[in-house]
Amino acid sequence: MLNHMKNIFILSFLSITIISDTSAQANFIQNIKARNIYNLDGRWHYIIDPYKTGEGSKFYLNRKQQSKSELIEYDFSAAPTLQVPGDWNSQDEKLLYYEGTVWYEHDFYVQPKTGKRYFLNFGAVNYEAHVYLNGKGLGKHIGGFTPFQFEVTNLLQSGNNFIVVEADNTRHKESVPTLNFDWWNYGGITRDVVLAEMNATFINDYKIQLTKGDLKTITGYIQLNGQQTSQKINIQIPEAGVQIKATTDANGKANFTMAVNKLTYWTSENPKLYNVVINSETDTVEEHIGFRTIETKGKDILLNGKPIFLRGTCLHEENPLIPGKPRSKGDLKMLLEWAKELNCNFVRLAHYPHNEYMSQLADEMGLMLWEEVPVYWDIDWTNNTTLNNAKNQLSELITRDKNRASVIVWSIGNETPTNDAREKFMEALADHVHALDNTRLVSAALLAHNAGNNTIELNDPLGNKLDIVSFNEYCGWYIDLPKEIGKYQFKIDYNKPVVISEFGGGALGGFHADAETRFSEEFQEVVYQNQLKLITTIDGLRGTCPWILIDFRSPKRLNDVYQMGWNRKGLYTETGKKKKAFFVMKTFYDEMQKKY
Ligand code: GCU
Repeated sequence: MLNHMKNIFILSFLSITIISDTSAQANFIQNIKARNIYNLDGRWHYIIDPYKTGEGSKFYLNRKQQSKSELIEYDFSAAPTLQVPGDWNSQDEKLLYYEGTVWYEHDFYVQPKTGKRYFLNFGAVNYEAHVYLNGKGLGKHIGGFTPFQFEVTNLLQSGNNFIVVEADNTRHKESVPTLNFDWWNYGGITRDVVLAEMNATFINDYKIQLTKGDLKTITGYIQLNGQQTSQKINIQIPEAGVQIKATTDANGKANFTMAVNKLTYWTSENPKLYNVVINSETDTVEEHIGFRTIETKGKDILLNGKPIFLRGTCLHEENPLIPGKPRSKGDLKMLLEWAKELNCNFVRLAHYPHNEYMSQLADEMGLMLWEEVPVYWDIDWTNNTTLNNAKNQLSELITRDKNRASVIVWSIGNETPTNDAREKFMEALADHVHALDNTRLVSAALLAHNAGNNTIELNDPLGNKLDIVSFNEYCGWYIDLPKEIGKYQFKIDYNKPVVISEFGGGALGGFHADAETRFSEEFQEVVYQNQLKLITTIDGLRGTCPWILIDFRSPKRLNDVYQMGWNRKGLYTETGKKKKAFFVMKTFYDEMQKKY
């Protein structure tokens, strides 16, 4: 390219960067789907742009040829379309393995009302998103699994409007997750997009939960957004005869504490939800909320003060029948119903925040949840931007799901190798979460190590910062054979509840052989039989999460006889067929349900 042209190009590139470098708002609108919204889901045009040509060519302007001789080297209206929400990998064969930039464009019609404010909200875009409205840069968001929003009140036009999103799922060393992970790197606008119409001053955020360890006190806050900061607030839980009055301060915030007598507490057997109505002088919002306390006492986990056992499973956010990212609430419900068939009361949502519908469904279905951010394997521990990114993903997740009774554990990571830089990083995350939410438990999936002498030892210093100690162990699969499992014992030096956050082995559904034939259902079955005998020797054991409920796609599983791009450790095949090991686990859970 010629020099002066290059200078023009660089200049225009720089101006774009400055416009779109604003980070999306962290304090996004709570429970946005219960507000007055325009749903922008549907078919969005897309342009695949591996060389990021669109940045220099300002694709965000969505320009149309004005004259027959004008040179414009893109045209969204002529481009194919993708379903939003949905990943691009499962919708266009060319994109199955694609990692890079895709431009999305969507037209919508709206008549903005005077005095109203408008917010564009994305449920999630993997991984980095730069968003434009009517050719203007709104800002960017980093992180593929949490919501973000922009206020667009001053940019919305009366009539036709258009959104352009530059989405890029390229993996980077300094990202969260980093370069190496064992799931499909689904790219795109993977969750709902809505435009919310709000009053000039509205109820932006609120937390309404029982105080930690206190079944008789509701604590929380209300945060207004707008000029009219000082307002009278009225919170009602009609069915429980509860009414809380408060007044917001000059910053639009009101904290409150309220004694309550007659509440039915949320449990997995009886997932009671109350309709909570919040009124301010200029806004109203309602939400179904369950009330429960969750805490630990010695080696026990107490739900509403009673010891529980977490009959868990791990789950990826993937609809195996597509296969791809779930595209509807129905897809998500199906996954949780499969967990229920295993008699689970607990699900570890691995390894990143799942769709917000998941926690709402879990509230309704009585499934307790472990929610996690993708601090996975070897992250860039000494990089401060990486640390802030991980903290931000935790903040966004906790902001989104803090009123979900089903969410009992925040997990700060998975299988992170012990070293000083990692300790510092992970301890900062643990402190960050404890500071943001003291009503739930904090954990991480730690790595136990083979201490020799058939001893599996867990002595990760991070365990001291966590409320429950959880670890992954793969005796019988990555270590030794199923028949050898019995020779092992554990050494766990914590006076805390223990949850096995992963164990198991693979099997190709329908492949039957003797119990020593790898990938046969019989091999997996014996892994489970012997693992359960071993695990139940742990005296602080208060939960188990087999890896994993359903076979899932992974670009790291390349054995074309048994894997074909799938991690085969599911208890269900990708077509929903139960493997032999499923029944071993179900029997165990039926017994545990009788005990607890
Ligand atoms: C790891 C990891 C999972 C992975 C699993 C496996 O423990 O946490 O993400 O898929 O093992 O190897 O199958």
